[in-house]
Amino acid sequence: MYINKKNIEVPKHLAIILDGNGRWAKKRGLPRTFGHYQGGLNVGRIATAADELGISVLTVYAFSTENWKRPKEEVDYLMTTPIKEFGKYKDKIINSNIVFKHVGRRNELSKEILELIDYLEEQTKDHKGLLLQVAFNYGSYDELLTAYRKLIEKGVTDPSEQDIWDSLYVKQPVDLLIRTSGEQRLSNYLLWQMSYAEMYFTKVHWPAFNKRRLIKAIKHYNKRDRRYGGLKK
Ligand code: IPE
Ligand code: IPE
Ligand code: MG
Repeated sequence: MYINKKNIEVPKHLAIILDGNGRWAKKRGLPRTFGHYQGGLNVGRIATAADELGISVLTVYAFSTENWKRPKEEVDYLMTTPIKEFGKYKDKIINSNIVFKHVGRRNELSKEILELIDYLEEQTKDHKGLLLQVAFNYGSYDELLTAYRKLIEKGVTDPSEQDIWDSLYVKQPVDLLIRTSGEQRLSNYLLWQMSYAEMYFTKVHWPAFNKRRLIKAIKHYNKRDRRYGGLKK
């Protein structure tokens, strides 16, 4: 495992369920959409922190295939904010060390979002730092069904585990999952990839989650004994 300058072992692949934007805003008497705005800004801060800590892959859950059930006004906001926000920070991302990747279904996304995704992916593909995977219109059931369909199309009738990995949007097993805001469930996130993930739940709402809290979660992770079905180390 990678040990960084702060002398903590960091997970190779950190996944985060960014939850609690709405509750964070409500507590402050603000509209839910303002919580999403602050939550969006926090993705940039935590990605920078993860890169500095030496984490290789960060996969953040930003919009699920089930989130379309929300009121139209909120969905519309979530479907237009990334263009405005990531658009504003485009140059910052391109001039950083970070490799940007979208993971999830492209089908329902607008032409503008897809163009921004394609642009950021193309412009950052040779970067050497953190791989930041943004799960947007992502759901595990969809990911697995899409993978099986791809395999059938290719004529693979007896797939190996590796064939399945190769057909998924997210191709790395998760070491540590963090879910903010108190809920202790997966909400259709990375079911295949989390088989042996360590899980960390915090009551802190996503917009208030910061580098100090990230380090605290990683320190908890360091104390876990990962046995993978074997015996204690
Ligand atoms: C997470 O915050 C962001 C998305 C799901 C888009 P929520 O919007 O789920 O916030 P809460 O859980 O209602 O507080
Ligand atoms: C999970 O959060 C999805 C994202 C964070 C994008 P939700 O707020 O949608 O999950 P549930 O509905 O509480 O399970
Ligand atoms: Mg929620």
